[in-house]
Amino acid sequence: MCGIIGYSGKLQAANVLLEGLRNLEYRGYDSAGISLFTKSGLKTYKAQGRLSQLEALLGENLPEGQCGIGHTRWATHGAPSNVNAHPHASGSITLVHNGILENYMELKEVLLKKGRVFASQTDTEVIAQWLDEEYQQAHEPIKAIRKTLKALKGSYALGILFAEHPGVIYAVRKDSPLIIGLGQGENLIASDITAILTYTRDYLLVEENEIAMITPEQAKIYSPEGEQLVKREPCRADWDIGAAQKGGYAHFMRKEIDEQPHALEATISPRVNNGQIDFSVDHVEDAFLSNFHSVQIVACGTAMHAGMIGKHLIESLARIPVSVNIASEYRYSNPIVGKDDLVIIVSQSGETADTLAALRLAKLHGARTLAIVNVVGSSIAREAERVLYTYAGPEIAVASTKAYSVQTAMFYLLALRIAYLSGNMDTDKIFRYVEKIQAISQMVKDSLKTAPICKEIAADLVDSSDLFYIGRGLDYCLSLEGSLKLKEISYLHSEAYAAGELKHGTISLITEKVPVIAVATQSSILEKMISNMREVKARGGFVVVICQAGSNIPEDAADRVIYLPDSVKDELLAPLAAIVPLQLIAYEIASLRGCDVDKPRNLAKSVTVE
Ligand code: G6P
Repeated sequence: MCGIIGYSGKLQAANVLLEGLRNLEYRGYDSAGISLFTKSGLKTYKAQGRLSQLEALLGENLPEGQCGIGHTRWATHGAPSNVNAHPHASGSITLVHNGILENYMELKEVLLKKGRVFASQTDTEVIAQWLDEEYQQAHEPIKAIRKTLKALKGSYALGILFAEHPGVIYAVRKDSPLIIGLGQGENLIASDITAILTYTRDYLLVEENEIAMITPEQAKIYSPEGEQLVKREPCRADWDIGAAQKGGYAHFMRKEIDEQPHALEATISPRVNNGQIDFSVDHVEDAFLSNFHSVQIVACGTAMHAGMIGKHLIESLARIPVSVNIASEYRYSNPIVGKDDLVIIVSQSGETADTLAALRLAKLHGARTLAIVNVVGSSIAREAERVLYTYAGPEIAVASTKAYSVQTAMFYLLALRIAYLSGNMDTDKIFRYVEKIQAISQMVKDSLKTAPICKEIAADLVDSSDLFYIGRGLDYCLSLEGSLKLKEISYLHSEAYAAGELKHGTISLITEKVPVIAVATQSSILEKMISNMREVKARGGFVVVICQAGSNIPEDAADRVIYLPDSVKDELLAPLAAIVPLQLIAYEIASLRGCDVDKPRNLAKSVTVE
């Protein structure tokens, strides 16, 4: 959601900014713009729509200059338009903003009273004008920025140019991500690592309200109060640029589906030691995972669906009560949580605004907080008491696939360790289970072989207008994720139901040829699922079932059967195999419909606003 890039160095900035914006496209946006210092002063170019619109505006001969800022905007205040696109300017100030200024109306009124006129409907222009007022008084960028920050309420990452200071970019953040990329004779600012990987893997984190200043030779960070410089060790990204490129695939999503075996292996293996689960590499000590009354899992979207699987695993292996909570609900629900509870926060990006707020609330209540996060150094990773990193590498497609799998895998590991520490499983039992966990990567590789049948089934389903997903227990959790995948990328309407609930209302929607995807991986309830599938068939519905290899599915219960590989050695592990055909069906349907699979309309990868 909104992407920021800034460059000061020896290269043509317009090229660098456009490439950076391309690498940030996945965050979601509806307009884009750049500003750069040229021989004839500070110039701004912006356009509604995709980056190609901005490129068309810039033409073949890109404006020359070696320092500038760029932005992809996901509209919040004011519709997507050329005028509302960033950068926004006032006097000698030009800036880009990611976040939401909550008191912008209040500040705008003060500025209007001073006779100021606004060109856009954005909250960002209010920041530009306010900063311009302060700069006219202070005549010094850092002082003016610091005074401006005192007036702002809300979230922001800002990249700022002052016309009188060519070659210099100022940057500041609060509750929105921003890093400084450190190059040789060039430095950058960016919303995330993927935007800078072409130039450098070394970066500095910027803490809240610190003021950063970059030139080609220097990257300085000033403390929020006072003028002293902050000394900070650079971080090194272990993601390489190849991981953030399509590598011959038509879409990132398809590539990321295929990357799941590798991501699972990378996430699981560092936590297995002598046949036992061991989180010492993460500094998550046993005492932290012992002696609590309940577990509360909090997340949004796909991460929340991984949390639902986590609940089943922890409850069935460790016999400890677990609740799963949507972060945007949790944060306003006055939750019953305290020092005797473990709150597990799940987030791929580590920047989701609601999830971050839920984490802060849990901390305020004194709960133990553990984050499962993919992006190193993200806000959630930094603020949680302990963090377990998933090693999915960069996930670029908006629809999450490999991040879901590794989050789910982390819950297997956690559930086993908690089960051991609570005395519910002994080392022998764990040992036997860990052997199966170590075979997960191969199991998922085998599951990817369902690709051809998923493609065929997608062709059967592509003309449907409504689809239903059903399942029980773990399979219900999977149904929710399968349905979400389809909705977000194909724009087809679909819903997921606990299979037993279908007859309490939704079955009225099942008529001739309405597709129902049944997930039926659990043998103890297979008969119940078959009954539910027959209920659908009896009303003319078209049933596709995903089940274990060797399951006996009667002919009158399903039209198409997807068998999981026989390498699924334990039913509790079946979700990691079954999610693959669900992802593939969604992907193939969206591709057949010609949808923009990686960048679905209206969606953002990293939702940094409420
Ligand atoms: C957005 C993304 C989803 C993601 C959710 C939570 O809605 O489109 O794919 O599951 O945010 O994101 P997080 O980064 O916290 O996992």
